[in-house]
Amino acid sequence: MGIDYNELAKKYDLTRKENIDTVNRFLENLSFSEGTNILDFGCGTGNFTCALKRITNANVYGVEPADEMRQKAIDKNTDVIFEKGNHEKIPFRDNFFDFIYMTDVIHHVPEIRIMFKELNRVLKQSGSLCIVTESHKQIESRFWVKYFPTTVEVEKKRYPDIPEIIESAINNGFVFLKKEITDVNHKQAISHNFLILVENKGYSMFHLINDSDYERGLADLRNDYNKQVELEYNHGETFLWFKKPFKD
Ligand SMILES: C[S@@+](CC[C@H](N)C(=O)[O-])C[C@H]1O[C@@H](n2cnc3c(N)ncnc32)[C@H](O)[C@@H]1O
Repeated sequence: MGIDYNELAKKYDLTRKENIDTVNRFLENLSFSEGTNILDFGCGTGNFTCALKRITNANVYGVEPADEMRQKAIDKNTDVIFEKGNHEKIPFRDNFFDFIYMTDVIHHVPEIRIMFKELNRVLKQSGSLCIVTESHKQIESRFWVKYFPTTVEVEKKRYPDIPEIIESAINNGFVFLKKEITDVNHKQAISHNFLILVENKGYSMFHLINDSDYERGLADLRNDYNKQVELEYNHGETFLWFKKPFKD
């Protein structure tokens, strides 16, 4: 079964928003000014896109294939330009962007090789690319695996692991700069927000496991939520930084 983001758009913003730590990490690594062109690739409902527009004075653009997701982004009424596009076609001219990022998108892209070629085309020489994703090790250590163990295999099938991403980017013209792993390591009771997220299938993986696995996991999660059971939060995210080399 594929994921229909036109359908998921109805509830997406109920359970998902931008992660301000991610936005801050972009700001720590790069400096943006009035003439800087930034692309949020696979921008969804524009949560990260609009946050960057609020915080910087750069020109911020979002590209998103699902019409219903993109419409939600447009409805946020910011000065961001949202266009339809995907890994095969990003509707901008060659060498246009100074910085391209994608959050939680790469596992939806059927052919990352084609995506890297297209990203390379629209990125300026010396421009930066940041991919925010999770490694297979991080997928295995998500705290909710306790409730939904069958998500691990489902997720490892669709998430390219870190070495595969780096190799494909390099083969398609990028220079690999660095890998950053967010340092998450604390104990916490299950939050109400997380329970709501699961009840609304706010992560696409919940649409990919079978109904009985989902229902069983949700019942156990509710039980632990009511008992305020503390869980280890330690999976974090991976930031992969690349550059398009400068050529004379
Ligand atoms: C989990 S959502 C993330 C949205 C947004 N980046 C965020 O973090 O809120 C994944 C997004 O990737 C988009 N997507 C799926 N296939 C894509 C493709 N081939 N190229 C670009 N984006 C794609 C989906 O439509 C969806 O909006």
